Formats: sequence, C-alpha cells, structure tokens
Amino acid sequence: MVSVHKNINALLAATADLFVGLAKEAIKDRGKFTVALSGGSSPKKLHEMLASDDYKHEVEWKNVYFFFGDERYVPLSDKQSNYRMAKDTLFDPLHINDKNIFPVDTTLPSDSAARDYEQTILKRLGASPQFDLIILGLGDDAHTASLFPHTLVLHEKDAWVKSHFVKKVNMDRITFTAKLINNADTVAFLVYGAAKAEAVHHVLRDDHEPEEYPAQLINPTNGKVHWFLDEEAAKQILAV
Ligand code: 6PG
Repeated sequence: MVSVHKNINALLAATADLFVGLAKEAIKDRGKFTVALSGGSSPKKLHEMLASDDYKHEVEWKNVYFFFGDERYVPLSDKQSNYRMAKDTLFDPLHINDKNIFPVDTTLPSDSAARDYEQTILKRLGASPQFDLIILGLGDDAHTASLFPHTLVLHEKDAWVKSHFVKKVNMDRITFTAKLINNADTVAFLVYGAAKAEAVHHVLRDDHEPEEYPAQLINPTNGKVHWFLDEEAAKQILAV
C-alpha cells in the first residue's frame, strides 16, 4: 500500500498512527510489540513525534521491544550509530528501560556481531522470527537497511542477519537480510524529500531489478508493506 501525504508532518502522523495501532493490537493479543527501527536521518522526526505529548501516552512502552534493522559498525556512542540516534531521539525522551532495547554488539568483530545479533533475535522471537513491525528508510540509490546495490548480501537465502563491508560508505554494516525483513508482519517505509523521488520511482515503477534497486526485494511473505511518502518523494510516481 502506498500513501502520499501533503507534507512531512502529515506523513509522520500517519506513520505514528500505524505504529500506535500495531503496538496496541500486539500488546493486547500477545502482551508485547517487537519493532525494528530504521537508521539514517529520516526516522528522527518520527521518533520525536512518538515521544511528543501527542503520542507518548498512547503506547505501553514497557511492553515494546526495540531492535535495529541495520547498524553501522561503530561504537554505540558514535554519532553515526543508529542506536545512538534512537537513544537520543526516542529511548531517552521516553525513558525506555535498557531491557527493552537490543542493540547490535559492535564491540565484537563484525561477523561475530552479526551472528550474535541473529542469535539474540532467534532467542527472543523464535526460529522463524516475525517482527510485528519493521521500519525502513530508502537511500537515494534505492538501498534499504544496509542492503546496498550490487552487494552479495542481496542474494543471502539462509542467514537472518549478515555483516559486510560496504564500499560506498567505507564501513562494515550489520543488516537484516531480505529474508528476515520479508518475514515481518508489517513493513513500513518512511520516505520523504525530493532527493528520494527518483529512487521511489525506480523501486515502485521500474522493472524488477533488485541488484540495482534493493528495496524491490522487500515483499513480505505473509505480511503487509506500507509506503509512507510525502508529495516531494512521490512526485515522479504521481507525474502523469
Ligand atoms: C542507515 C539506514 C539506511 C537509511 C537510508 C536513508 O543505517 O543509514 O538504515 O538504510 O534508511 O540510507 O537514510 P536517510 O533517512 O538519512 O535519507
């Protein structure tokens, strides 16, 4: 499902509403809500909205368990860390207990960090881990999580989590594989700004070429995928 919103605030509110609705349903049905957050800069505004007076009382945060769809292989205190970004914009403002947060252990060698994270996920979510919600961003090159164009991880069929050196960003990344993302109950892409318009068009309108446009790999097996776009990011798919 693709929804286009007239501005970023309307887009964020729609995404926050989905988050709250899914959290309430999961906590009512199963007593907990498991969510994997996206990295990068786009989610910061969503985190700030969830932590605002408009939303912070809507969710029983003590029953929400936070994971990361990908992580940069840097110390968790590093400005580039997705964990650090979430801590600053969501966990600290909402006073989330550390026992509800599962960061990647980047003190381990990167391959070990990926295996360790996969074991953490399998231990918490079972042998076929199904996140209630996975939030994703979209790079200008149509990557998502750390599934970058022309990388071997795009073809990973067995592992749920992998680490790899990403030449484009000159660092190791630990990432959910498409297999894990596509096992989710719900996947929500949060994409806004004119810079994303071309990548959005490639992913949603061009022929299936996931090697070029890795976000095309995301098609949940039994779940749903929502694309939350503002008009700027949607302008090439809206153009007649
Ligand atoms: C990361 C993200 C990555 C991000 C896109 C978009 O670790 O960087 O997981 O996939 O979502 O690169 O990033 P922006 O939101 O900063 O444009």
